[in-house]
Amino acid sequence: MRVVLITGAAQGVGYATARLFAETGHHVVMTDLQPLDAQIETLSALGGSVSGLSGDISSEAFVTGLAEKVAREHTAVDVLVNNAGISLICRAEDTSFDQWQKVMNINLTGPFLLCREIGKQMLARQRGNIVNVASIAGLHGVIDRSAYNASKHGLIGLTRTLAAEWGSRGVRVNAVCPGWIKTEMDEADQGSGAYSDTDIINRVPMGRFAKPEDVARAIAFLAHDDSFINGVSLPVDGGWVADASWDDLRLKKR
Ligand SMILES: NC(=O)c1ccc[n+]([C@@H]2O[C@H](COP(=O)([O-])OP(=O)(O)OC[C@H]3O[C@@H](n4cnc5c(N)ncnc54)[C@H](O)[C@@H]3O)[C@@H](O)[C@H]2O)c1
Repeated sequence: MRVVLITGAAQGVGYATARLFAETGHHVVMTDLQPLDAQIETLSALGGSVSGLSGDISSEAFVTGLAEKVAREHTAVDVLVNNAGISLICRAEDTSFDQWQKVMNINLTGPFLLCREIGKQMLARQRGNIVNVASIAGLHGVIDRSAYNASKHGLIGLTRTLAAEWGSRGVRVNAVCPGWIKTEMDEADQGSGAYSDTDIINRVPMGRFAKPEDVARAIAFLAHDDSFINGVSLPVDGGWVADASWDDLRLKKR
């Protein structure tokens, strides 16, 4: 049974990904800052093989402990999904040092630590693959998100570097770049009044938000064992980054 380790698995994209892998015959190791008992119970009741450990992925001690635990209990991780992340909507000139550091620690340093610790195990077996959850904010600038965008641009840079460094040693590394997804993160961001459903729907050629399951399927596609795909940053965005049209032009086509 392939073992899949997913960060930020308590809700949103991470949970949808855990569910998809559990439903398709994988053992899923879920990790999150939040408790995972209810999620493990639900997925187990659906017939999934699931375990979990709560902790902070930006803590080096937690990540090394997690990597030791999965090595002890499962021999190897076949797929690592670096999904945990936080949002920050704030003008660049108002972003504090602590806010910047927190976003970088969780969105970039955490995935690096997981790539390093789980990647070592994969390199030893010459087998495994990693999918990092970046964002279209890792491909383009979006106003009022300097720390978030820089962290996601960095995550894409890390993805490309590891793909080049580890590709010859049996480990592939890719990223997905979702557009706006209907999750708790979106609910919290919209709660601050930063944007509305209409803003997003009007911007996306396919005229809707991504669903967590859209992103989960793209992650599973990149994580497929029999693949020559390495180092890509795959938009899962209904056409957002492909579309340089102005709003009126796009909306006339609806
Ligand atoms: N929601 C969107 O519109 C959107 C768009 C593009 C990319 N993304 C990215 O997709 C990923 C998942 O987003 P989501 O919308 O499901 O978010 P979410 O807020 O619903 O879920 C994120 C999960 O990560 C966990 N988490 C946060 N900090 C953590 C830490 N330090 N250690 C361990 N777990 C931690 C949270 O507890 C939560 O369960 C994130 O990386 C996010 O940046 C989201």
